Amino acid sequence: APVALRAVVDLDVAGPTISRHLYGHFAEHLGRCIYGGFWVGEDADVPHEGGIRLDVVEALRALDIPNLRWPGGCFADEYHWEDGIGPRDERPRMVNTHWGDVVENNHFGTHEFMALCELLGTEPYVSANVGSGSVQEMSDWVEYLTRGDDSPMARRRRENGRDEPWRVQFWGIGNEPWGCGGNLRAPQFASLARQYSTYARNHGDNRLYRIAAGASDADYAWTETLVQQVTTGLGDRTPSDLFQAVSFHYYTIAGDWGQKGSATTFTDDEYWTTVRKALHVRELLAGHAAVLDAYDPTKKIGLALDEWGTWWDVEPGTNPGFLYQQNTMRDALVAGLHFDAFHDFADRLRLANIAQTVNVLQAMLLTDGEALVRTPTYHVFEMNKGHHDATALPVHAVGERTRHAADVGEVDTVSVSASTKDGHVLVSLTHLDPTTSARVELSLRGASVGAPQARVLAADDVAAHNTAEAPDAVAPRALDGVRVQDGVLVVELPPASFATVRLPLV
Ligand code: AHR
Repeated sequence: APVALRAVVDLDVAGPTISRHLYGHFAEHLGRCIYGGFWVGEDADVPHEGGIRLDVVEALRALDIPNLRWPGGCFADEYHWEDGIGPRDERPRMVNTHWGDVVENNHFGTHEFMALCELLGTEPYVSANVGSGSVQEMSDWVEYLTRGDDSPMARRRRENGRDEPWRVQFWGIGNEPWGCGGNLRAPQFASLARQYSTYARNHGDNRLYRIAAGASDADYAWTETLVQQVTTGLGDRTPSDLFQAVSFHYYTIAGDWGQKGSATTFTDDEYWTTVRKALHVRELLAGHAAVLDAYDPTKKIGLALDEWGTWWDVEPGTNPGFLYQQNTMRDALVAGLHFDAFHDFADRLRLANIAQTVNVLQAMLLTDGEALVRTPTYHVFEMNKGHHDATALPVHAVGERTRHAADVGEVDTVSVSASTKDGHVLVSLTHLDPTTSARVELSLRGASVGAPQARVLAADDVAAHNTAEAPDAVAPRALDGVRVQDGVLVVELPPASFATVRLPLV
């Protein structure tokens, strides 16, 4: 295969730590994510623990998911947490106006979510209601979850069966406040965010990491207003006493919001448009980071991309409000491109959450009755987990590299990132060209390495996907022929593939 990329990887130059929280997840009360996905209830036939589906738990445990955002999304701004505690059959019902206009019975509430996080071994990320809630409501929720003594909320938690407080570090202040979270203007939301953050208290040794809901896409003006207003006029407190991060959301779509295109049937042009849109996340990360740099040059405040992923038209015949979509090799490549970008911006990006974990948008898992399907995107998360909390390593492209010239502009056909941890180096490679194989040569300088172990995710067709009937149509396998010759790592990549190479430092 022709050389698509030559690059130098500096094994002795430590970049920033790649927070494991860049590999976070998202579970909203939307379609079949919670109900039918995570939660089947205590009377279900599928194996469960206290109503939580165990095959889903087992599959996700293999990803070491670092945090799980809940209960929304748009749903968070109409959710009243007190409706979701106490005996299940006495909980009030509500209408989920955003997602399918269905009746929500509140059977999955705070205790069920915390039980799920414990089963998954993951940290909770709770999004509080600013759009239709109150400061008191959020303040009480923090106290209910995290306070240890006999305070009113701690007592209430005990009455509901949980003695010890939980540790809940991550708290979202609102969600998409410029849209479904209240149609607010940036200065108005900035004031609310200051107020909500003030009353979201650190109880005992539980330190909050408060994430103010932020912009959509390239709305840098929103980020600037928010950051400017939350970092000034605080007297002798520093901005990071009040806020620890601001967020933004970015979805990859090939069409427009009216017609986003099919998940499984797409043209060449749609494929390359998807690639371009996925790569655009780099520009957005740079833009929002630049705004933060102006107000917070020492990088105390983090950036959180707490919703990202592909968004296609729903699968034919499914409820349009449930956002159920298939997931192909194309989605896996979108994930690979995002992770490379996340690693490159790890000095400012502290948290990211793919939307969403089960049965919604770019999911890891699809359930169909008793069947459970791991998607191609699932495998990218699994293959990349060695980057969690690793030290990023600089990768410099040298010389010519192959580029694809499409209507939408030129695109490099190979993307690479690398990190080191526990005496090993992990290299991830995303090869975008669906028509040709590619050879990549990486000069590993600054240290010596031992024998490489390589895996690849690939399929004959970039639209290939997994189903209940063919659950392993797209699954990782060993990649042969990977070698280190005179300090150069040589990898031959099949068309449209994602690969990882692990090398011991010797
Ligand atoms: O992830 C689906 C929805 O997308 C979320 O509820 C909302 O925040 C975003 O618009």
